[in-house]
Amino acid sequence: MALAYNHEEITARELKPALFELDGISRETIEAHYRLYEGYIAKRNEILGRLDGVDLASANQVSSDIRALKVELTFAIGGIKNHEIYFEHLGGNGGDPGGIFADLVKRDFGAAAAWKADLKATGMAARGWAWTAYDWDEGRLFNYLGDAQNTYPVWNATPLVALDVYEHAYFMDFATDRGSYIDAFLNNLDFAVVDDWAQKYGIKK
Ligand SMILES: [Fe+2]
Repeated sequence: MALAYNHEEITARELKPALFELDGISRETIEAHYRLYEGYIAKRNEILGRLDGVDLASANQVSSDIRALKVELTFAIGGIKNHEIYFEHLGGNGGDPGGIFADLVKRDFGAAAAWKADLKATGMAARGWAWTAYDWDEGRLFNYLGDAQNTYPVWNATPLVALDVYEHAYFMDFATDRGSYIDAFLNNLDFAVVDDWAQKYGIKK
């Protein structure tokens, strides 16, 4: 038996010009992210094409092809989603959050400074990503830690901030000083974008 399903291809989103004028994060770094992002788009399209028609294991056997492809698919799609958030919410002037997002931060972390400190500590401890996500089951924000693109997103939680801490995100601009990169990331966040997402998703305090 073979899988056969729809595998429409997707294309890379264009970068907004503001991303090339960030404070402390260079054009070269943004271009490095973008090359990886384009690679994840291509990989996602390729894997869905390969899954369409792959032989499924019969009876109780495990298909190693299916395992490899499905794990790779989560990695590729994670790379797409994480980078689309990253690109979209940079290009601002940092400062303090506003709107409903500010209310959530204040309620769940006590103050914007405490939220930032927790996100920074999470980013310092992670191998790949840190996210601020609204958890729909708990009804509150968490700063979650990610290692690779596909570890460890949490079910039924919506990311509102995605902090890339892979080496390509900071090494060209800050060498080993990841902490200064995270400060620069926070200073370039566009909180209006984050708050728009919170409103669009219908998150209520
Ligand atoms: Fe990246």
